[in-house]
Amino acid sequence: MSSKAKFQAIRGTRDLLPPDTALWNRVEQTAHEVFTTYGYGEIRPPIFEPTDLFARAVGGDTDIVSKEMYTFQNPTGLAPMFREKEMVGTLAEMSPESEMISLRPEATASVCRAYIEHNMQQMPQPVKLYYMGPMFRRERPQKGRYRQFYQIGAEILGGPDAPAIDAELIEMLMTFFDKCGLQGTELSINSIGHAADNCRRGYVAKLREELLKVKDKLGADSQRRIETNPLRVLDSKLEHEQPIIAALPHIADHLCDECKAHYAAVKRELEARGVTYRENWRLVRGLDYYMRTTFEITAKGLGSQNAVCGGGRYDGLVELLGGPPTKGIGFAIGEDRLILSLQEGGRAPAAQGRDVYIAWMGEHAYATAIRAAKTLRSAGFRVELPASELKFGKALERASKLGSRFALILGDNEIQSGEWTLKNLATSEQQKLSEQALLEYLHTASGS
Ligand code: HAM
Repeated sequence: MSSKAKFQAIRGTRDLLPPDTALWNRVEQTAHEVFTTYGYGEIRPPIFEPTDLFARAVGGDTDIVSKEMYTFQNPTGLAPMFREKEMVGTLAEMSPESEMISLRPEATASVCRAYIEHNMQQMPQPVKLYYMGPMFRRERPQKGRYRQFYQIGAEILGGPDAPAIDAELIEMLMTFFDKCGLQGTELSINSIGHAADNCRRGYVAKLREELLKVKDKLGADSQRRIETNPLRVLDSKLEHEQPIIAALPHIADHLCDECKAHYAAVKRELEARGVTYRENWRLVRGLDYYMRTTFEITAKGLGSQNAVCGGGRYDGLVELLGGPPTKGIGFAIGEDRLILSLQEGGRAPAAQGRDVYIAWMGEHAYATAIRAAKTLRSAGFRVELPASELKFGKALERASKLGSRFALILGDNEIQSGEWTLKNLATSEQQKLSEQALLEYLHTASGS
């Protein structure tokens, strides 16, 4: 890159800018509020973790781990830039012991790692945690799909084997979407049983057998998945595979009695909470840790990337990561997609204007303007104080461009008389007010 070349955000990453960030903050605030009412506490795990954590939790054969993680070697010793003089190449720092680390592609693995690391099984169970923040996957970028994207997620760890836990988690999620004003949400649920011969393993064997019979008619990805993970064939979006998939056996007919009873109870519990759902026997999800309940929510205005949330139960995961046998269930919302859908639905906030633009002229007026700006801001008003003197005409023009409601005009006359001029920029009405009367007037005008 030449010294004059402009830098751009890396492909698949982007800047979130005002006024959009106001909507992001509102959504995040709603999550804090709603999740708190259900007894969840916030966890902030690190952005990077040992690669092995994700490989073991999410699964080495999944797309996420095998293709999409940002992985690098964590050099041992000091970083090269702290060394004397010559830059020591990072590669020279590598030793066989240096650890492979990855930017997190998701956070469930981290939450389970933290549960074990901080002995949370000693706390009252279940432990309910939520998180929000950036995740990283090297996917092909498109609308609603980024390489740095944001999730808002929640996990419940420990506690009894109660379908009410699954249902209450989903109820909370739907309440959150409702409070955000998200339109056209559709909840799909399924049960993928547990890994036993008389349950999912038996079904997968049957599925593989059936898929082998139609192998020639399938695309390359599905053909490969017959061996690696036949369940993922059910995820296929390829047009010509749809009639073939429709004729495959359904997992619901192959669940063991306990998983069947659990699934039936989850549905009853959802109905008791007035949560509407659709069953989708093809909902298997792309991460290895799931068992029993899986669910996904789609929303309007998102095109092909319309899954705004995914989640499910993962009872064996804590144990797989070296902890005690522990139940677990959770979800992650794609915040970028949630925001997109809200914006498409007209929920975007308008650009933030100013309550008061202070048009000042003269040294005395400037000192008063500084004081007035401070007082008005501490009373909660959005105030613009221009950094250099402007003719009143120019200042009023700027005030309008910034979407200001009022202009406070401070010149020699105002300073001498102590009566300030307030102009309503929508009606062009002007009035003279003392400092105290101005504050009262603005409070009344803004309804505060
Ligand atoms: P996931 O289905 O991989 O599940 O991701 C959850 C959501 O994150 C997706 O439904 C989507 O909205 C959003 N998402 C995923 N990838 C991208 C991307 N490249 N760009 C934009 N949005 C994306 C998980 O991550 C699990 N950890 C969820 C979970 C929590 N299961 C149990 N607990």
